[in-house]
Amino acid sequence: MAMRVRLLSRLAGAVRPRFLNQRALSTVGSEAVDEGHSESQSLMHWEHQYSAHNYHPLPVVFSQAKDVSVWDPEGRQYLDFLSGYSAVNQGHGHPKIINALIQQAQKLTLSSRAFYNDKFPSFAKLVTELFGYDMVLPMNTGAEGVETALKLARKWGYEKKGIPKDQAVTVSCCGCFHGRTIGVISMSCDNDATRGFGPLLPGHVKVDYGDAGALEQVFKEHGDKVAAFLFEPIQGEAGVIVPPDGYLKAVRELCSKHNVLMIADEVQTGIGRTGKLLACEWEGVRPDVVVLGKALGAGVLPVSAVLANSDIMLCIKPGEHGSTFGGNPLASAVAIAALQVVREEKLAERSAKLGEEFKGYLSNVQRLHPDLVKEVRGRGLLIAVELNPAALGSVSAFDVCLALKERGILAKATHETIIRLSPPLTIRSEHIRLAANTLQEVLECGIEKLRLDAKSQVPQNSPEPCDRCGRHTCRLSEHS
Ligand SMILES: Cc1ncc(COP(=O)(O)O)c(C=O)c1O
Repeated sequence: MAMRVRLLSRLAGAVRPRFLNQRALSTVGSEAVDEGHSESQSLMHWEHQYSAHNYHPLPVVFSQAKDVSVWDPEGRQYLDFLSGYSAVNQGHGHPKIINALIQQAQKLTLSSRAFYNDKFPSFAKLVTELFGYDMVLPMNTGAEGVETALKLARKWGYEKKGIPKDQAVTVSCCGCFHGRTIGVISMSCDNDATRGFGPLLPGHVKVDYGDAGALEQVFKEHGDKVAAFLFEPIQGEAGVIVPPDGYLKAVRELCSKHNVLMIADEVQTGIGRTGKLLACEWEGVRPDVVVLGKALGAGVLPVSAVLANSDIMLCIKPGEHGSTFGGNPLASAVAIAALQVVREEKLAERSAKLGEEFKGYLSNVQRLHPDLVKEVRGRGLLIAVELNPAALGSVSAFDVCLALKERGILAKATHETIIRLSPPLTIRSEHIRLAANTLQEVLECGIEKLRLDAKSQVPQNSPEPCDRCGRHTCRLSEHS
C-alpha cells in the first residue's frame, strides 16, 4: 500500500508542478486542456486536485468504450481486462442495454417506491424466476445489497429463529470484501478499510475462509445467536481465492443443521462471471439469500438486489427498509436488458470456455517463468495471476499493471503481488491470447526496467497483521 501511494504521488507529482498556473487552464466543450499537456494529463491533474484521494488509479483516462475496447482522449486504444471490477460482463455499451436505457429514460425515470411503476414488476418477475427465489428486494450498490441482506438476516433471526433481542451474530470470513459502508467494514480484515473509522459495529464473528471445520466450531460456540453466515463463493478482492472443493456444500449443510441463513455475496462472482450464472452453482448449492450487484446494471447504472424466499423476505415490513432509487424504472429497464443479454448470448457458458482457454495461456507463461509466476487460479473469467514476491524484489503487481497498460492491456493489481484479470464476458480468443502474450513480454523484457524504476523506492515493510484476526494476511493459503 505504502509503495502504491508513493507511486501515485510520483505520478501525480510528475504532472503537478507545471499546472500551478490555473489561468493557463481552459476548457474546450467538456474537455479539460492545459497548454503543453495532453488532455489525459490535465484530467488526471484535475481529478487529483478536486476529488478525494480515496483511490489510486492507473494513469489512464477512459473517454470512450465499446465492448472490450476502451479509448483515451488522445485516441489510444486499450483492451479492458478489469471491466469495472466485473460490472461490465456484457461488454461496454451493449446496444440492447443502451437502447433499453434510452427508451426508458424518455418515458419515466423515477417513481420512488411510494408509488408503483410499470417496469419494476417485470424486473422482479424476471430476476426471481431466473435465479429461482420467491422475492427480490432492489437496491443500488453492492454494499447496500449486503447491508440489506444483513438487516434481513437479523430480522429473521429475531422473528423466526428466536434470537434474544439485540444479540444476533453474523459470521463472515477472513479476507472478505463486501463493500465500504460502516456495517460492512465492521466485518473487514483490511486495516486500511477499518483503521480510523471506529467504532465498528458489534455482532460480527470472523472465521477462516474455506475452513468448514472452523465454521462448525463457530456455530457450536455461538449457534443459537447466529443469524447468518455471509461469504463470497470466490473471494474477489482478496485475490481471487477459490475455496477447496466441497466447501460450499459443507457450508450449506452446516447452515441447515444450525438454522443459520446462508448468504452468498455474488456481487462480483454472479451473473456469469465464473462460468455459471451464480458461482454457488459450481457445487450445486442454493444459498438462502443471494446478493447481486455490479453486472446486474451492466456497468450502465448501479443496480443491486437481494434474493430470498418469502418466509425470509417478508420479515421486513413496510417502512423498515428501502431506498429512494431502489427498483426505479430506469434501473429496472437496464437490469432486464442486462439479464436478457447474459441469457441470450450465453455469457456464462462463454465465460467458462474462454476462462479455461485463458488459464491455459497464462499457465504457459507460468511454465516459462516459474520463478516469477507463483500461481494462476480462478473460475471462468475471474482469474488471478499471483507473482512471486521473492523474484519481484521491490517491483509490485501495480508496476506490472503499469507496464501492461503501456502495451494496451488494462488490468488492476489486488494486494502487492496479485493481478486480477476479469475482462467482459464478450471477450474473444484473440484478445485473451494477446493479453497472455503481453504479460509474458512484460515479464521477459519489462521486469528489469521495472526493477530499475523501483530501485529508488524504499522497500516495503512486511504487512502488518490484521487488527481483527491478528493474521499477517487473511489469505486462505496462509491459514490452511
Ligand atoms: C463481493 C463484493 N461485494 C460487495 C461489493 C461492493 O459493491 P459496491 O462497490 O457496488 O458497493 C463488492 C465490490 O467490489 C464486491 O466485490
